[in-house]
Amino acid sequence: MRILAIETSCDETAVALLDDGKVLADLIATQGELHSPYGGIVPELASRRQMELLPSMVADALAQCGWSMADIEGIAVTRAPGLIGALLVGLSFAKALAFANGTPLVGVNHLEGHLHAVRVEHPEFAYPYLGLVVSGGHTSLYHVRAFGDYRLLGATRDDAAGEAFDKVAKLLGLGYPGGPLIDRLATQGEPTAFRFGPPKLDPDAVFQVGEYDFSFSGVKTAVARIVQGWNKNANTSRHSDLAASFQAAVVDQLCRRLHQAARAYNCSRLVVSGGVAANQGLRQRLGDLAQKEGYQIAMPPIRYCTDNAVMIGIVGAEYLARGVRHGPELNAAAVEELGR
Ligand code: KG4
Ligand code: ZN
Repeated sequence: MRILAIETSCDETAVALLDDGKVLADLIATQGELHSPYGGIVPELASRRQMELLPSMVADALAQCGWSMADIEGIAVTRAPGLIGALLVGLSFAKALAFANGTPLVGVNHLEGHLHAVRVEHPEFAYPYLGLVVSGGHTSLYHVRAFGDYRLLGATRDDAAGEAFDKVAKLLGLGYPGGPLIDRLATQGEPTAFRFGPPKLDPDAVFQVGEYDFSFSGVKTAVARIVQGWNKNANTSRHSDLAASFQAAVVDQLCRRLHQAARAYNCSRLVVSGGVAANQGLRQRLGDLAQKEGYQIAMPPIRYCTDNAVMIGIVGAEYLARGVRHGPELNAAAVEELGR
């Protein structure tokens, strides 16, 4: 099946063409530079840029394959969750294309996309598995029992892990997006220079999601206090030590939870995806964990850890093959959990 996939949930504009799961075109335009001066995403700027870029990117992808819309058998588009303005740009465009060309349309949950990004390289990766989506907007752990059958085991009670990376990068004056910048700086630092213990999660908290919840605001605040205590001329080697120690604390929490859930669910297949899965420190720790515990851990290549349209196309193709179709009433949603 020839699929056009569109992803505009945040600050990436992504378009892909797939033919029976084979990636034939894969375009991603990032907006890092646009938002960098603000130290975070400005939603209005994000949706305006999506609008400027999307039509020509779809045309470019089709031209790359020598296809026209008449060759497309299905359109998959991210409909939730994300920035509502940005989502609506992709969704409205996809609906217009579907209506004008009589092409079947399916809306896809962005998190479901991340959970299946691993199938770009490993289409046969077997169910069930534990899937950790760790990105700028989410830190959520799922028991993926089969395609379309997800149970949310836990999620962050405050900041997403990527959000914490971005905020700490801002504190250190590094720019946006902060994750890759901290990742790079951490390689020059000492991860045990500052000790940040695991978070204390209140078992009676109102905001709890599940047994395997996360929390990153404590370590972020601890970093803020340290930076506030420095004078302007602080030795820059302390910056790399702090970046390395912060990263180690985040990685430790992620790996601990995964390990606990893997034991409780007797599940040795693990998938880690989302922007933070690009982190070198995390990839290394997961590699060690896999070796020590005999886990089969799959991580998408870095291009498919961060936001992309291929993962949306993979999920959309499966739904289309199962006969799912969405009409003009399909709407976007800023918030939509999976598996609750
Ligand atoms: O999945 P993604 O592209 O977009 C969302 O759905 O949020 O994730 C973006 C997030 C940002 O917070 C970014 O700082 C973080 O992923 N990120 C990283 C790395 N690369 C991207 N965090 C840590 N280390 C990295 N190498
Ligand atoms: Zn994402």
